Amino acid sequence: MMDWNELEALCHNCHGCGLCETRHNVVFGVGCKTADVMFIGEGPGEQEDLRGEPFVGPAGKLLDDMMCIIDLNRENTYIANIVKCRPPRNRDPQETEQDACIGYLQNQIALVRPKIIVCLGRIAAQRIIDPEYRITRQHGQWVQKDGIWMSAIYHPSALLRDVSKRPETFDDLIALREKIRQVGTAV
Ligand code: URA
Repeated sequence: MMDWNELEALCHNCHGCGLCETRHNVVFGVGCKTADVMFIGEGPGEQEDLRGEPFVGPAGKLLDDMMCIIDLNRENTYIANIVKCRPPRNRDPQETEQDACIGYLQNQIALVRPKIIVCLGRIAAQRIIDPEYRITRQHGQWVQKDGIWMSAIYHPSALLRDVSKRPETFDDLIALREKIRQVGTAV
């Protein structure tokens, strides 16, 4: 396992897959390095690529609002993605790109040691929780894996496209707040 400085330096110089050819910035992750709650998205979009920070575009604004409902924010959580470089035209990150990048996230998780991981959308849920994960059916369910409570909610981009998914997500957020209470975290 690498420390934060080593890991971040390595990640910023990464040429592990083809996404390095088209990126403007590596989007490493932000937030509290000792957070109890970690959010994991799929990969940077256009704004994130330009700014080098996760969830700063339209989906990020919504994520901020979602976190705010349950007293979470960028200072008391850690936010990262499965892949650290933007897939062209926001396509899904390919399996080979995820494979090349996942070690960074695993190292981030090992350093943060969160009590709770919330995957944002199907891609993250399938990579982190279960390859067969069905977001429509399983969002909001909790499983314990490697001593960490894990769940997935709809990706904020999906909630921008389809507002009918928002009430379910509100329920999932309330359940997340309850889970945070149960595991006795500081937030
Ligand atoms: N969507 C993601 O999955 N991650 C980001 O950082 C931004 C948008």
